[in-house]
Amino acid sequence: MLTDSGTNAMSDRQLGAMMIADDAYAGSQSFVRYQKAVEDVLGKKFLLPVHQGRAAENIITKAFVKEGSIIPMNYHFTTALAHISQYGGKIEELLYDEAFVINSKRSFKGDMRLEKLEECINRYGVEVIPYIRMEASTNLIGGQPFSIDNFRGVRRIVDKYGLKIVLDASLLGENAWLVKQREEEFKCSTMGENLKIMTGLADIVYFSARKLSSSRGGGIRTNDESIVRALEPLVPLFEGFLTYGGMSVREIESIAVGLYETLDEDMICQSPKFIAYLVNAFVKKNAPVVTPAGVLGCHADAMEICSHIPQPQYPAGAWAAAFFLVSGVRGMERGSLSNQRDEYGNETYADMELLRLAVPRRVFTSSRIGADMLGLLLIPSLQEVT
Ligand code: F0G
Repeated sequence: MLTDSGTNAMSDRQLGAMMIADDAYAGSQSFVRYQKAVEDVLGKKFLLPVHQGRAAENIITKAFVKEGSIIPMNYHFTTALAHISQYGGKIEELLYDEAFVINSKRSFKGDMRLEKLEECINRYGVEVIPYIRMEASTNLIGGQPFSIDNFRGVRRIVDKYGLKIVLDASLLGENAWLVKQREEEFKCSTMGENLKIMTGLADIVYFSARKLSSSRGGGIRTNDESIVRALEPLVPLFEGFLTYGGMSVREIESIAVGLYETLDEDMICQSPKFIAYLVNAFVKKNAPVVTPAGVLGCHADAMEICSHIPQPQYPAGAWAAAFFLVSGVRGMERGSLSNQRDEYGNETYADMELLRLAVPRRVFTSSRIGADMLGLLLIPSLQEVT
């Protein structure tokens, strides 16, 4: 339960597609199939292949971020922040305060606060803002989605000031599924429609295929030729030729199939439904877990469980270690241990100290999650550790 990154189980069709991959250095038909799948599922015209999500972040930040740049965003992910600060940029996180409340009823804790965005643009000036970053299902605050309504609001402000939006679509599939569950306007729309509406609101879309398509690899999408011209030369430099971007052709085939499978509601709902099941079971035991249930995993609050451990002693890290010793289940610390030091080398403390129990796609069955995980491992371990 450490992560869903590259640990989602592949389907038989993905594994089968890997066997027919076209192993050509240039002009591989596997890449043609990948291009078509990305266009069908995520829309947009141009594709730049990269070997994983952070590689896309490296290329985008190298092209657009410089000393003094400000990147407004809903919330950072570790690798996104590391790349931005590497090139001298700073971030401004613009979530609603309730995003950090553990027990909440707010359906879209990943929404950006629009008045804060406008205030931020006016404070710094458009010249220093190369783009606004929106992260689907904000990883570090409990896998919490944003709504399309909010994203449209971000787009309106971005258009008013002539700026660009970069969408981190690594967890977009599950975000689009939660939009369908929680946003009235999209209750009857398909996964494909929701995905395209969301990507259509961004100028650049990048993704880690380790998450988005249950495989490996990644990609950058845009419709804008000037953006392609800025990014394209960096792909052969850092990743590989423009028809493989550091991936093997087998990985490329599995992404193409996995992207189409993301449109399948029966498949995409599995992980969020299991997570909701875990979250509800923990809530019944009065365990402090992030609500509403989001994506990626069940997130528990180490600040409360380990209230005797001060933040400089990493409560979520300590709990993750103790939990592993007691249960044999390895979760991931999502707190100050994962935080980056500031520009002077000082330690910084995370907004939340969470233990994440990830539920990768197609890995567990409902009985394994229900009886084995909850009954035998998670709840007894929680009681023992506390
Ligand atoms: N964006 C998000 C939202 C992510 O969750 C991750 C990775 C990345 C970008 C980077 O992608 O690993 O392919 O380079 N998250 C993993 C996790 C590591 O365990 O949460 P990558």
